[in-house]
Amino acid sequence: MLEETLNNDTLNSSLQKGSARVMSEAYNESCGDWSNVSISTTQNDLIASVKRYQELSPERFEDTDLPFVIAEFGCATGAASVLPLKAIIQAVRDLAPEMPIQIFLNDLPENHHSLAIAAVTDGLTPLFDDIFIMVAGKDFTEQVFPSGTIDFAFSNMTLMILPLPPSPRTDNVFFLATPEKLQSNQGKEWVAGFNKHWTSFVTNRQKELRVNGQLFVTALIYDEPILSYQLKESNFFQDIASICLRDILKKYRLEDKLSSTLKTSVSMLKRHYTDICQKEGIHVVSAKSYDVVDCFAQEYKMTHDSRVFGKKVAQYIRGWWEHVLEGGLAYEGVDQDLIKKVSIEVFDTLPGFIAERADVYPEYYRVLSLSIDKPARQ
Ligand SMILES: C[S@@+](CC[C@H](N)C(=O)[O-])C[C@H]1O[C@@H](n2cnc3c(N)ncnc32)[C@H](O)[C@@H]1O
Repeated sequence: MLEETLNNDTLNSSLQKGSARVMSEAYNESCGDWSNVSISTTQNDLIASVKRYQELSPERFEDTDLPFVIAEFGCATGAASVLPLKAIIQAVRDLAPEMPIQIFLNDLPENHHSLAIAAVTDGLTPLFDDIFIMVAGKDFTEQVFPSGTIDFAFSNMTLMILPLPPSPRTDNVFFLATPEKLQSNQGKEWVAGFNKHWTSFVTNRQKELRVNGQLFVTALIYDEPILSYQLKESNFFQDIASICLRDILKKYRLEDKLSSTLKTSVSMLKRHYTDICQKEGIHVVSAKSYDVVDCFAQEYKMTHDSRVFGKKVAQYIRGWWEHVLEGGLAYEGVDQDLIKKVSIEVFDTLPGFIAERADVYPEYYRVLSLSIDKPARQ
C-alpha cells in the first residue's frame, strides 16, 4: 500500500511524496482557464478583504516605507496567480498609490517554480511598478514565513490536497463528502485527515499574519443535501477510477495498486472548514459558496463537439493527475518503463472515454470563498 511505503521516512520517499502532489509542467495550459473562472467568481470577496484590512489598520496603508507583503499558498505554475494578484495589487494601490509590493509565491519545494515566476512576472510587470516577486518553496502545513510579517495571504483551490491518504480508497479519483461517505468508517478517517491538515494550515497562517492581516481561501466543497451537479461529478470521477483506470491496471496485472494512483484531494462540506476555525478561536469574516461554471461544459454546450470536449477535459485531468498516477506506481515499486506505458495508455484512453460521457459531465462545481482575519487581541 501507498501508506506503508510512505511511512518509510527516507529522503527519497519524502521527495517522491512532494513530487506526486505537484502539478505537471503543462498545468498552465491545461488547467489555467478552469481555475480562473473560480477566481473571477470570488473576486469581489477577495477585494473586500483588502478593504477590510485598510478599515481595521488605516495606518498600515500610510506606511509606504514597509512593503505590503502578499503570500500565495499553492501557486503551482502561476497561471492562476496573475488574476488574484492583479486584483489585490490594484485594491492596495487604490488605497495607497505609492505602496511597494512584495509577493511570495509558495508551493512545495518540488514545484516548477521557474514557470511560476515567469508567468507571474509576465502577467504583472507590464502593469505595475515597484513590485518584487519571490519564491518560497516549503510545505505550507508548517510555518513558512516569520511571525507577524504577512499583510495578505491567499490560496486558491489548493487546501483540498491532503499530504497522504488517511485510508485506502478505490472507488473514486477523489474523496467526495457525499452523505453516505461521511457516515462510513472510511469517511470518518478522511474527515479526521482533513481536520489535521486544515488545522495546521490555518493556525500557521495566523502566526504569519500581521495584526488585522487577512487570509482569503477558495476550495472545492460539497453541500448538504448534495446538489444535482455534484452527484454527476461524483459519478463521472467514479467511472474514471473504477472503469477506465481499473481496466488498464488490470491489463498490466496492477489492479491491486489502484488505491495508490488516486488523488488525495477532498471536497468537504463548508462546515468542516468553519468548525475548525471556531475550535481554534480563529475569526471567520465570511464563508460563502458559489456555483462556478465549468468552462469545458460551457464550451461543449455551444459546440456539441464531444471529441474536442473529451480532449480538453482529459488534458485538464492530466494537469493534476499525471504525477499522482505515476508517483503512486513508483511508490509501489513498479518498473519505470511499465509506469510510462500505463500512464501513456491512461491519458490516450481518457479523451474517448470522456467524450462518451459529455452529456453527463457536471456543468458547475461548488467553491467555498472563505475570508479570515487576525484580530488585534491575539
Ligand atoms: C490544484 S493546484 C492549484 C494551483 C492554483 N492555485 C490554481 O488555483 O489553479 C494545488 C497546488 O498546491 C500545491 N500544494 C499542495 N499541497 C501543498 C503543501 N502542503 N504545501 C505547499 N504547496 C502545496 C501543489 O503542489 C499544487 O501546485
